[in-house]
Amino acid sequence: MTTEVMAVDPAEPDPSAIIRAAAEIAAGGLVAFPTETVYGLGGDATNADAVAKIFEAKGRPTTDPLIVHISHFGELEDVAVEPPAVARRLAERFWPGPLTLVLRRSDKIPSSVSAGLDTVAVRYPNHPVAIALMRASGKPIAAPSANRFSRPSPTRAEHVLADLRGRVRLVLDGGPTQVGVESTVVDCTCDLPEVLRPGGVTVEELRSVEPNIAYAPRQAESSQAVSSPGLLLKHYSPRAEVQLFEGPRGAVLTRILAEIDEVASQGKAAGLLAYTEDLVPLAGARIPSFDLGAAATPDVVARKLFEGLRWLDEQAVDVILVRSPSRESLGEAIWDRLYRAAEGRVIRVDD
Ligand code: TXA
Ligand code: MG
Repeated sequence: MTTEVMAVDPAEPDPSAIIRAAAEIAAGGLVAFPTETVYGLGGDATNADAVAKIFEAKGRPTTDPLIVHISHFGELEDVAVEPPAVARRLAERFWPGPLTLVLRRSDKIPSSVSAGLDTVAVRYPNHPVAIALMRASGKPIAAPSANRFSRPSPTRAEHVLADLRGRVRLVLDGGPTQVGVESTVVDCTCDLPEVLRPGGVTVEELRSVEPNIAYAPRQAESSQAVSSPGLLLKHYSPRAEVQLFEGPRGAVLTRILAEIDEVASQGKAAGLLAYTEDLVPLAGARIPSFDLGAAATPDVVARKLFEGLRWLDEQAVDVILVRSPSRESLGEAIWDRLYRAAEGRVIRVDD
């Protein structure tokens, strides 16, 4: 299969590109397109053959359910059965936007979308290209992030091509995405709604609407203990090994400098994923370094995170060293992605 790339203006997408992409969706084909979070690999959510193609193209296990994207509030009733009041309140406040709600699945959505579950994850994204594509095709679109399974999510069309060239018919290139981490997933099928994945809408924002939303943050293992990573944890992984360091800034920077020497002594190459203010103290190391933006600007860090992991892979480093972000607000989603990229290993450094 040859992969065609069409550039689209992210604010006012060219109707001819949208019509071409919508025809592909209507014919049961796949289109990669930008959302405000990351690029998605989309197919008609009501067509089981198209859904099967998504799993196949991504190399994703069919046990891992997909998100169904909609392009207006009315469509919620088509894909989900009796959304509870809490889901409606969250949708009203955060849609269109980076929030995914898990609800009871309607019969119009094949069970394969949800990996056989009787629930369905639904999101109304806030991106003109995604919305135009769905409205032109007249279909809800099932779309996971447009990366090969377990690779970092794509925030640029180039990332999609690196993973999926030859596996998707068409890529709509709308430039870099704005949020950079995926949507927050909230399960609304239990009595107490619960955050399953932190993301673009922060837990604090959710609780400003629904104070009782549950969220069980992952606990970093203390000291250097390696928690058994488990298959499901491996995610957002670059090819290189990621080492995530947590502790006071000065102590962590000292430790990272020592670790760079240690990696070199093993004949391996290290790379840095660093906040802007850390680049100077770490500059003596002279190794490939990616600037994540200032630690105090988590919106910038979120936008650059996956690009940084992919860039360091291109520099062919064996080990990526990174200082843990603050877990406040959007920092929680950033921490979660780094923690999973590190396969659950957190290296605790004390003063
Ligand atoms: O921002 C995003 O959410 C992006 C863009 C493309 O919309 N999509 C995305 O999809 O990140 P994906 O497939 O990479 O992640 C979907 C997440 C997974 O963690 C999956 O387990 C969860 O949503 N999910 C999907 N359906 C579910 C369900 N029925 N119950 C519980 N979790 C579900
Ligand atoms: Mg994904």
